[in-house]
Amino acid sequence: IVSHRLSVSFLMVQEYLEPFCLSLEKLQEVSARLKRDFSRGLGKHSHHKAPVKMLPTFVRATPDGTEKGDFLALDLGGTNFRVLHVRVVEEQQKVLKMDSQICAIPQDMMLGTGEQLFDHIAACLSDFLVSQDLKGQTLPLGFTFSFPCEQKEIDKSILIRWTKGFNCSGVEGKDVVKLLKEAIHRRGDYDIGSVAMVNDTVGTMMSCGYRDQSCEIGMIIGTGTNACYMEEMKNVKRVEGEDGRMCINTEWGGFGDDGSLKDIQTEFDRVVDKMSINTGVHTFEKMISGMYLGEIVRLVLVKLTEDKLLFKGQSSEALKTPGRFETKFISEIEEQDNGLENAQNILTKLGLKWELVDSRVVRLVCDTISSRSARLCAAALATIANRIRVNRGLDHLKTTVGVDGTVYRKHPK
Ligand code: GLC
Repeated sequence: IVSHRLSVSFLMVQEYLEPFCLSLEKLQEVSARLKRDFSRGLGKHSHHKAPVKMLPTFVRATPDGTEKGDFLALDLGGTNFRVLHVRVVEEQQKVLKMDSQICAIPQDMMLGTGEQLFDHIAACLSDFLVSQDLKGQTLPLGFTFSFPCEQKEIDKSILIRWTKGFNCSGVEGKDVVKLLKEAIHRRGDYDIGSVAMVNDTVGTMMSCGYRDQSCEIGMIIGTGTNACYMEEMKNVKRVEGEDGRMCINTEWGGFGDDGSLKDIQTEFDRVVDKMSINTGVHTFEKMISGMYLGEIVRLVLVKLTEDKLLFKGQSSEALKTPGRFETKFISEIEEQDNGLENAQNILTKLGLKWELVDSRVVRLVCDTISSRSARLCAAALATIANRIRVNRGLDHLKTTVGVDGTVYRKHPK
């Protein structure tokens, strides 16, 4: 009887989850649409209105392994804000992390003024330099800033718009490197050398490329999602010159912002978009990345409970509260061995009364939502790999993808 009940409710739940299950044909269609949007983003006249921005990065080559030196690094825009001191040692082809520090960015600062934000960053860097005894030196600094920027040079980068949870006033349309330098000068207690600003996808590609020269794609599946790759200069119409290559930051998170993904968006995706601080933008990202996955799962669970397919129709305050089902729960619930037990503990913490079947259904929901995320990433990655292959006139391309991001690192599959 138990197993009969299990399979009946599973079948009904599966019907609810159908819209999340994308067929191979659908994924190929999605990939083809992205291919078209890549061309629009690269075009000289079409790029202004393109949902996928295809931003030149002014990175013209991947490392060759002979790089060396001492550097400071800042990493802003993922789960944590980090300050690092790294040493690149040529002989061993190694990037040694000498030391690093995580500085929290309080929620209200993420929504405050730009000046507050950059003063905070400069203060964190100052503390770090003191703790490392580096204050007298002027080291060059690599700034990983994981937001869409119109880059004019490697050290001149204008923020197009905030994404993910950030929305500081007075930064959009400004040169972020300049804002950082100004904040450091306001303090006056230390200085930095030359600055190189990169998107996190570019940083990921470059650090992977240092040891594996066939790495020409960088991908992030974390708080947000995005990818970059090496494009032929002759196709980068916005930058002068025809020779060689340049890394392009695709900003694929914006894919679908012109409505091109309407057919695969579910009612739950539309609610997530509506409730976000940037409604209407970063449609693709909202179906894939860590900032949103937990919330999609929560909305599905709410609906299943309302329709009496979960918890005997009994919800809880926590389940009804936006943000309470964290993306990291998905990873825990999908764990091979302890997944079900983790699910049960999480449901208890959310104030829900569950039976075995409920924990299985919740696991199925998590698996469905994260599989869709993975498949969409795969489809988009295929678009990039095929683009590079065609660019080089090859039948077959062998390449390496540098990948990072909390969802990628933490998800068991
Ligand atoms: C968002 C940002 C993008 C970044 C990505 C991953 O999509 O717009 O610049 O690379 O998140 O962090």
